Amino acid sequence: MEVVIKIAVLASGSGTNLQALIDAPDLGAEVRLVVSDRPDAGALGRAEAVGIPSRVVPWGDFGSRTEFTKAILGEIESSGAEAVVLAGFMRVLSEELIAAYRNRVLNIHPSLLPAFPGAQAVQLALDHGVKVTGVTVHFVDDEVDHGPIIAQRAVPVLPGDDLASLHARIQVEEHDLYPKVVGAFGRGQIHVEGRMVRWE
Ligand code: GRF
Repeated sequence: MEVVIKIAVLASGSGTNLQALIDAPDLGAEVRLVVSDRPDAGALGRAEAVGIPSRVVPWGDFGSRTEFTKAILGEIESSGAEAVVLAGFMRVLSEELIAAYRNRVLNIHPSLLPAFPGAQAVQLALDHGVKVTGVTVHFVDDEVDHGPIIAQRAVPVLPGDDLASLHARIQVEEHDLYPKVVGAFGRGQIHVEGRMVRWE
């Protein structure tokens, strides 16, 4: 496999999106490091299982968002990563990371942004009664779930859906879409100008 770009993946949860990146046959990116704010994150076990180094940077060890972000930034820089992929990372990072990796931090969010930003996106879509929600992959900027949109997939909301069933259907799309976007980014096929993202 030709490695095009070295990435660090940040994850707080079970890490199924990390797994999709690990399993992608020709990702075109090397996961150099996995960082979690939670020692119990399933993502850490997934990294260990395939020999990817991981670090835990606990939110509670730091007195401010800036200090927390600087600690994570230090780990990312020491790993040699050229880009940062957020995969269910549930902490907001401060501007220091965005400044160091401008237009090189990607996030995946379980709604069609700008609808339903924040940590409760799937429940908010259900509560609102939308008929279609989905997945957004975007560059991270200084506002939460706001940066330039790289790719989106629509997912129908079906009668009888609950949080688990809808999130499961969204995750099927996430696991297909994120490796494709990360790979295209790694191959230099994604260009950002202001809010506009152009694919080659
Ligand atoms: C995903 O639904 C992602 O969109 C959101 O957090 C979830 C992480 O899931 N940001 P996993 O840990 O990758 O399974």
